Amino acid sequence: MKLYVYPNDNLASLKAYEIVKKALLNKKNSLLGLATGSTPLKLYDLMIKDYKKGIISYKEVKTYNVDEYIGLEESHDQSYRQFMNCNLFNHIDINIKNIYFPKGVGNINKNIKEYDKTLESLGAADIQILGIGSNGHIAFNEPGTSFDLKTHVTNLSPSTIKDNSRFFLRRDQVPTSAITMGIKSILKAKKIILLAFGENKSNAIKKLLEEEVTEDFPASALKDHPDVIIICDSDAAKKIKYN
Ligand code: GLP
Repeated sequence: MKLYVYPNDNLASLKAYEIVKKALLNKKNSLLGLATGSTPLKLYDLMIKDYKKGIISYKEVKTYNVDEYIGLEESHDQSYRQFMNCNLFNHIDINIKNIYFPKGVGNINKNIKEYDKTLESLGAADIQILGIGSNGHIAFNEPGTSFDLKTHVTNLSPSTIKDNSRFFLRRDQVPTSAITMGIKSILKAKKIILLAFGENKSNAIKKLLEEEVTEDFPASALKDHPDVIIICDSDAAKKIKYN
């Protein structure tokens, strides 16, 4: 794993964008694995800005997302699909048919099988963008989840429900389960960029860098991947030693 630490999330997001931009310039039909959460927002802003300047086109790009809440329709304002529409897809020239998302409503078992088939046929992502939960989750793979799982349903841990409650008016509106790609599928990406900003990620970053691989800390699975880039701001990196 390579680690980059920047004084703030603007510069950190710029570093992530430079890597994404290079990939998109090299390969117009890149496959990007995307994540939600507040962390990648500045990266998505930079992607939109360069598209608007005519520097990058997403016409041939395909994307898939790592997770979605169970029980929220795509049109729900807190669904991850809406999040991606509002913060990226609606502002670039991506073909809607090239956007792949797990479905959190309807026949979930069928959705799981279909998403695994979709991911299989898409092949390895050129770049996978990830955030990290304060408890070390990636996508919605919570502590204790087998690294061998592909797409599955997960019960969100109390700390994740608490972290995510800031986006909902009331705690009882926060979904308690999600459909998520498994670690096995996430690790198929050719390159993984994990972003972590803010002090509330500092324990997770310390564990990721200093402790061993364990299913009790899902992000530690990344240590077994050959091309992982961790990009932090100085707050997220405050508990580790770096140059
Ligand atoms: C959610 C998402 C993750 C994301 C995490 C961190 O749980 N499922 O994909 O990485 O939140 O979110 P934030 O970036 O808002 O801290």
